[in-house]
Amino acid sequence: MNNIDQVRMLELPERGDERGNLVIAEGGSDIPFDIQRVFYIYGSDPDIVRGCHANRDSEFVLINVAGSSKVKVLDGEGNEIIYILNRPKTGIYLPKMVWKEMYDFSADSVLLCLASTHYNESEYIRDFDEFVKIVKENNL
Ligand code: TYD
Repeated sequence: MNNIDQVRMLELPERGDERGNLVIAEGGSDIPFDIQRVFYIYGSDPDIVRGCHANRDSEFVLINVAGSSKVKVLDGEGNEIIYILNRPKTGIYLPKMVWKEMYDFSADSVLLCLASTHYNESEYIRDFDEFVKIVKENNL
């Protein structure tokens, strides 16, 4: 299976009541990996493109807990999918070795990112041509 075929939207369980909403993202069940790292992105202007990398080892789930953004996912073989994130209880699952770009951030966008690994810059591929080469060489 091509890595991009594993990309999917996740509907997180919500336990809302009269006091408000509560969304659950439990590692290993709601999130398809153990969560090792959490970071969040906010204050990016709408014309900014973030990400622009692939990860050799890390899987991610991205959730716009406020506002909206878009995520473009490329497989390095000419296929791409664009997702819109605009619900606090809907995330996108990104497997390892897909190229991703986040853009079109709304002014109130808070993009929560859950990762399966601790941060390690050496597993980031930040050059698209290099990504395409690695995909080709490894038949990914
Ligand atoms: P970067 O990967 O460029 O962010 P994005 O892809 O989301 O636009 O990361 C920005 C900076 O933050 C870069 O110097 C690496 C650092 N960083 C960490 O130290 N730890 C982390 O977990 C992440 C995601 C980034």
